[in-house]
Amino acid sequence: MKTVIGTDIKKAALLLASGSVVAFPTETVYGLGANALDASAVAKIYIAKGRPSDNPLIVHIASRKDVSKLASSVPVLAKKLMDKFWPGPLTIILKKRPIVPLITTGGLDTVAIRMPSNEIALALIKAAGVPIAAPSANLSGKPSPTCAEHVIADMTGRIPMIISGGSCSIGLESTVIDMSSDVPTLLRPGQVSLEELRMVIGKVRVSSNVYGVKRKIVTVRSPGMKYKHYSPDATVVVVVGPKSKVESKIKSLLKSYSSKRISVVGFHKYDSYSSYVCKDSAEMAHVVFEKFREADSSGVDIVIVEGVSNKGIGLALMNRIKKAATEIIEL
Ligand code: TXA
Ligand code: MG
Repeated sequence: MKTVIGTDIKKAALLLASGSVVAFPTETVYGLGANALDASAVAKIYIAKGRPSDNPLIVHIASRKDVSKLASSVPVLAKKLMDKFWPGPLTIILKKRPIVPLITTGGLDTVAIRMPSNEIALALIKAAGVPIAAPSANLSGKPSPTCAEHVIADMTGRIPMIISGGSCSIGLESTVIDMSSDVPTLLRPGQVSLEELRMVIGKVRVSSNVYGVKRKIVTVRSPGMKYKHYSPDATVVVVVGPKSKVESKIKSLLKSYSSKRISVVGFHKYDSYSSYVCKDSAEMAHVVFEKFREADSSGVDIVIVEGVSNKGIGLALMNRIKKAATEIIEL
């Protein structure tokens, strides 16, 4: 299949409206979109990604009016979250209406809805005139794409069009909160933090896998969590603890692994094959998936990442890093 790479939103919207798959930028990561209400269009997303079809997708909308078309009931607290955080990196799970096909929701009776805060995404959804189901636009097993080049690397030849829209401002996938049952439950942390969610709606339960604890999952509430997540071919080592201790631990690791090609992603400059210095957690969130892709393409043996605290976006960052990690060193 020939893949057009460009910025023509009208053309992309026509493709979506006619049942094709288009990759587009959002403020979190690039999405691989199709008409959420068209089962055969959604099936093409799973094929393009090489992803199991019981993993539910997020439905992207451009207008609040669409919520009640997709969801059978919208609790007051869910409305409060929409008022505060939409458009933005928050996905809200609600009971679905029959109009949403089961292939979109991975067979669940709930639907995940999000209004992205990216002008290209919003213009595209409006022009297509339908809600757009979209997982991250990576091949299954690769990190989420945070710029058009990542999507081009994974999706060329697999879909008819990729909208190039620069680098995603956040770089980690949206926060996912389940508002379909009595107690709001955080299923995936993101830029909209747990602290902010609690400030707006009070009690929020946190799903056990958010902290990256490797325990046996008995009931899977967010099916995306049960699949092995991306980790680079390189070994990922995370070092967590007080700043000064982390710094000296990393220096001693570098000495003991001196025969290896090591890349460090942290907050200090280290004497290693490559050392990326982030100014804060937000910048690390912005670059971490890209650094993992780079490690794979440049034959790095070990990626050492400086851990951060679980505050704010730190919870999301540590969740993604721990998923990729072979070893977590806590000091
Ligand atoms: O930032 C994002 O959310 C990006 C952009 C493209 O919007 N999308 C994204 O989609 O990260 P994906 O498919 O990679 O992740 C969707 C997550 C998965 O963990 C999935 O299990 C969960 O949302 N999810 C979707 N629908 C659900 C539902 N009905 N119940 C529970 N979890 C759900
Ligand atoms: Mg994904």
